Amino acid sequence: MINDKQHLIFIGFMGVGKSTIGKELSRQLHLPFIDLDEEIVRRENRTISEIFQSEGESFFRKVESEIFADIVQNKKPSVIATGGGIILSDQNRSLMKPHLTILLEASLDSLFDRVTKQQQDRPLLKTDTDMKLRMKELYHQRLRLYRQSADFIILTDNKSVDSIIEEIQNKL
Ligand code: S3P
Repeated sequence: MINDKQHLIFIGFMGVGKSTIGKELSRQLHLPFIDLDEEIVRRENRTISEIFQSEGESFFRKVESEIFADIVQNKKPSVIATGGGIILSDQNRSLMKPHLTILLEASLDSLFDRVTKQQQDRPLLKTDTDMKLRMKELYHQRLRLYRQSADFIILTDNKSVDSIIEEIQNKL
């Protein structure tokens, strides 16, 4: 059950659908929707790749955490779609605790399918090594943290946006 002081925070791996599902749910619940990556791009006035390239990942993580803290501290409840790496920081994970955190999970195969179809700015996957291998490594490094941080988990493989939303709505 959600209370009127909680944000609804979507976490999960790149390409799992946090923004799509978050946006639709926010519309149905009449809550503001915030996409953390978009907020970073807006406030930094440059793309995620530009930030990674010129400042490195640790700078990106610092900015990501600062903006996340800012958003979460806003008393007005909202639906927040985070970036896939949000669970890497202890501080971010503690900030999630008073709120309702929903983990969207998918198999590596379907994540790979989605990520390769999307034209999104994902510097972590632009590697010289095999992308699927890179995704597999990151996925296994993070799985435990995703699951630890979640109030509940929704499996998304072979489900439509509508049925995923319905499943979430039934748990709120
Ligand atoms: C990242 C995921 C991206 C973005 C950045 C880092 C990650 O967001 O924040 O490229 O570490 O998993 P999406 O999960 O929305 O792709």
